[in-house]
Amino acid sequence: MKYDIAVLVGSLRKGSINLQLARALEKLMPDNVTFKYASLADIPLFNQDDENNMPASAAALKALIAGAHGALFVTPEHNRSVPAALKNAIDWGTRPWGQNNWNNKPVGIVGASPSAAGTALAQQHLRNILAAEGAPALTTPEVFLQMKEGLIDAQFNITNADTKAFLQGWVDRYVAWVAKFAT
Ligand code: FNR
Repeated sequence: MKYDIAVLVGSLRKGSINLQLARALEKLMPDNVTFKYASLADIPLFNQDDENNMPASAAALKALIAGAHGALFVTPEHNRSVPAALKNAIDWGTRPWGQNNWNNKPVGIVGASPSAAGTALAQQHLRNILAAEGAPALTTPEVFLQMKEGLIDAQFNITNADTKAFLQGWVDRYVAWVAKFAT
């Protein structure tokens, strides 16, 4: 079976280390998995006045999630929590009432930071948010990646063999997790 994965990268910047991590994970995925990247930058701040006639960018995000077999969050940590752009996207995905796209959607959560904490606090907050929305999240292994210069090369290859093997193990668990929920 083929699996489409909605990928939400919580950083909007071009040189994002989390975007690099997403691209590196994409290379480790088996051939039956396709990454479909969400575009978070042009989604306006959530406004409940607009939830029944939502902006096209928010509707496109919801359609992407709805059509995917699973979702992958690749998140930076901003001030010890989830970046605002990511929380905004999650909020649109829950609305309007009765149209929560996260419910029963299997998710994976990973993140990269220059610090040794590796986005652990942001990921814990993200787990709380997604649990409330009914999204079953893969628990372990957890990927708190400390990004170092050259760890991911320009072609999105992981240059450290141990890190590559660890992330490959995570990919295998994640794909099996998504498969469990596929109908
Ligand atoms: C950060 N950074 C950061 N890092 C961290 O480990 N814990 C934190 O709480 C924060 N807080 C934080 C707030 C804001 C507003 C910025 C801009 C940055 C540093 C962050 O990990 C670093 O900038 C990463 O490179 C961000 O990921 P991307 O954008 O490269 O994917």
